Amino acid sequence: MRLLLQCVLLLSLFTFKAAGLDFKLESRASGQLSFVKQADSGARLVKRSLQAWLPAASRLHKIRRRSAGGEQVDTCQALKGYEPKLAANTHRYTFNDLSGSVSLAWVGDGTGVILALTTFQVPFFMMKFGQSKLYRSENYGKSFQDITELINNTFIRAEFGIGISPENSGKVILTCEVSGEEDSRIFVSNDFGKSFTNKNLPFTPLTQITYNPEDSSVLLALSIDNEMWLSEDFGSNWKKTHNMVCLAKWGRGNTIFFTASNNGSCMDRGMLELKKTSDYGKTIKTVASKIYSFGLGGRFLFASVMTGKGTLRMIHVSVDKGETWNMAQLPPVGHEQFYSILAANDEMVFMHVDEPGDTGFGTIYVSDDRGTVYSKSLERHLYTTTGGDTDFTNVTSLRGVYITSILGEGDSVQSVISFDQGGEWVPLRKPVNSKCDATAKDPAKCSLHIHAAYSTAMRLNIPMLPMSEPNAVGLILAHGSVGDAISVINPDVYVSDDGGYTWIKALDGPHHYAILDSGGLLVAVEHNPNQPISRIKFSTDEGQCWAVYNFTDDPIYFSGLASEPGARSMNLSLWGYRDSLLSQYWVSITIDFKDLLTRTCEDKDYVQWLAHSDDISDPNDGCMLGYKEKFRRLRKDSVCLNGRNYFVNTQPTPCSCTLDDFLCDFGYYRKENSSECVEQPDLAGKVLEFCLHGKEEQLQTSGYRKIPGDKCEGGQMPERKEIDLSKRCVSDLVNPELLVVNHSSRSVLVVVTIVIVMLLSVAAGVLFVKRYICGGRFLVHRYSVLQQHAEENISADIDDPLETNHVQNGKIEFHDDSDEDMLE
Ligand SMILES: *[C@@H]1O[C@H](CO)[C@@H](O)[C@H](O)[C@H]1NC(C)=O
Ligand SMILES: *[C@@H]1O[C@H](CO)[C@@H](O)[C@H](O)[C@H]1NC(C)=O
Ligand SMILES: *[C@@H]1O[C@H](CO)[C@@H](O)[C@H](O)[C@H]1NC(C)=O
Ligand SMILES: *[C@@H]1O[C@H](CO)[C@@H](O)[C@H](O)[C@H]1NC(C)=O
Ligand SMILES: *[C@@H]1O[C@H](CO)[C@@H](O)[C@H](O)[C@H]1NC(C)=O
Ligand SMILES: *[C@@H]1O[C@H](CO)[C@@H](O)[C@H](O)[C@H]1NC(C)=O
Repeated sequence: MRLLLQCVLLLSLFTFKAAGLDFKLESRASGQLSFVKQADSGARLVKRSLQAWLPAASRLHKIRRRSAGGEQVDTCQALKGYEPKLAANTHRYTFNDLSGSVSLAWVGDGTGVILALTTFQVPFFMMKFGQSKLYRSENYGKSFQDITELINNTFIRAEFGIGISPENSGKVILTCEVSGEEDSRIFVSNDFGKSFTNKNLPFTPLTQITYNPEDSSVLLALSIDNEMWLSEDFGSNWKKTHNMVCLAKWGRGNTIFFTASNNGSCMDRGMLELKKTSDYGKTIKTVASKIYSFGLGGRFLFASVMTGKGTLRMIHVSVDKGETWNMAQLPPVGHEQFYSILAANDEMVFMHVDEPGDTGFGTIYVSDDRGTVYSKSLERHLYTTTGGDTDFTNVTSLRGVYITSILGEGDSVQSVISFDQGGEWVPLRKPVNSKCDATAKDPAKCSLHIHAAYSTAMRLNIPMLPMSEPNAVGLILAHGSVGDAISVINPDVYVSDDGGYTWIKALDGPHHYAILDSGGLLVAVEHNPNQPISRIKFSTDEGQCWAVYNFTDDPIYFSGLASEPGARSMNLSLWGYRDSLLSQYWVSITIDFKDLLTRTCEDKDYVQWLAHSDDISDPNDGCMLGYKEKFRRLRKDSVCLNGRNYFVNTQPTPCSCTLDDFLCDFGYYRKENSSECVEQPDLAGKVLEFCLHGKEEQLQTSGYRKIPGDKCEGGQMPERKEIDLSKRCVSDLVNPELLVVNHSSRSVLVVVTIVIVMLLSVAAGVLFVKRYICGGRFLVHRYSVLQQHAEENISADIDDPLETNHVQNGKIEFHDDSDEDMLE
């Protein structure tokens, strides 16, 4: 589905950046937003609007650290004598390869197969000379085989990356650049990269070819002249299905959604048609017209609509593949603003709506289960207009937890966290073992600030984005600083073991990090691009105690960590390079930690842990979105192996409902300090109020609607007669003709424009890629020799993001603005 596309976008983004086209900072000089210490910047949290779905009653628990309950044991003692065990399991591989960048892809799940593609490109007057080499490992990177002859020494377009199929079917696509020839060529593999066959394409692809997520032998491609091509036999035969296609994405059930232009130009935004085909192009249906662009998130299809008033546009939503549409109850935006899907699943979506003017912030709205009624969740949400940078992070290790940044007073950047799916945002607690920095007005009162995508874009010294994994329950690793706002001084690494309620400072200074064995083992390598390194740190107690291992006598310039996505592996590769007399060559050092954790964990190694809770004995504690979950978690002092087959063991129990488990439906709002939803007295004349077009029955409402994902049972259920709101439909934005048409025909919509930006954090990105997109694994390390030289001129603590362009570090985004046309 959309995730497949994201995989491609991910790839194109990286190369986009790696190509040096750093659109992120253009025109948005640091004058606008500063990272500088601000005197007056108490973490100001924005009050939720009246429409907000959770009443103000504080839901924040006073949490103790999970480990504080007498569980403290000196785990540092437990690891004695690890050096020889690790030394015996350290494998070094040196690549006879001078190329500037390497891309890595995991093929299959648990197969241990890694493909490494290196490219070497030299611009020479008007020509480019390039060389690619392909290596393959079958043992998690311990050794590689040079299989370049399988691709006939052809130059592979590294910016398209390695196309790994979903569902772990072992398919691989590499796109070639055939110089001096009209047609293009791909190399495809059906057997996890053991063998490749080449296929000629009757077109030149614009981006990486995408797999149908439900049938990996069906491929979709856009050509550089905007033709849409499909192959139903894994690339052997291609047919052209449409001309002038601007953007195409796989939806569910073999459906392809795409925008097409009638006038022969994709620049003609706002005039495009949204079409779909569910039979690979045999029949094509137009589902909406006058489209600017569209986006898919969870089960929702989003498009935006010109309101007929100037350049204003607004979002329309469909949950039935475009057959019927509803207007989203979100403010319209002008041409200089944008909408952005921050995260979406089948139940709900987080939508960012940019503020008018070049403010660099906007408002987060959270949707109901239909995607139509939105509650204001967070104001002054940092999201730069031009760069498309936001710190929004889904913490995948605990349900309902999200972290992002707001623009405080004086343009200071401050982190906030929500434990209840955007209902309430609060500052992060100060770690007990760290002091407030100089920015803090009151040295005793300050909070933790997390460095994420925005800091990376501002070129702070942040090698990794925050990391969490669904199978490492409660665990978060992130760079941060402690004060009143984000500090530009070198950040440290902080760890939370309870989903972000409490934090400890785990490591001084910036590090690369990875989660292994479902959280049983954490590893970290100091980030110091200017100095070769030989040490790796690891922890078996969720970051409290770190042991150090010298993995080599001959230090390497370190580029990044690579471990199989999904955090189940015990094999970790350190990628880097060594300088010899005249050249630099790649090395990969793989450590298998199997002898460190020799014992498989038993029952006694686990403890019960109630998520979102402080007091396990309180029957009402720990309820989040209508249920509570007890997890079996590894004791901190247990040095044992979770193993590949470890699964998260949880016992959800429903909580009884309160009014807080409901949001106010369309036409209703909450008065301040009240949980009750009352009818909005006057719907007319308010920009925010819209009719829900298309489905009139949705206007029958009692005023309450369960919060998406809420599973409460019994208790206080709102009982009220349903009333019909349809008579009260008003909209000062959509002209009356359209309204009438939609009410009667319930068919085609309307007028649209959209900018959708998708974003995934590092960890989420890797996870998505692993689980849903590529089915296999994906991780990219890029290092450019030329860039390295350039970087030497930059001061030591500024890291050139081009150099540390890991996918882990990255995010997926697409911004349908003209600037980033290339990303489509
Ligand atoms: C490599 O090139 C040779 C000769 O040009 C050709 O016969 C062979 O099929 C090619 N192999 C692949 C895998 O494309
Ligand atoms: C595109 O074509 C339609 C008719 O095919 C026309 O009404 C519209 O004005 C054209 N738009 C532009 C920008 O030329
Ligand atoms: C956040 O991540 C979790 C775990 O992967 C996932 O279940 C959830 O759907 C995500 N939330 C959203 C809004 O995408
Ligand atoms: C690791 O190497 C460093 C220098 O590279 C050395 O100072 C240190 O003693 C070594 N540690 C161990 C445990 O061998
Ligand atoms: C580590 O790699 C070896 C192969 O070298 C493999 O047999 C083992 O299963 C891997 N361990 C894990 C936990 O993936
Ligand atoms: C809501 O509660 C807060 C804190 O208890 C109080 O300061 C505020 O005045 C209340 N607002 C209303 C409208 O009652």
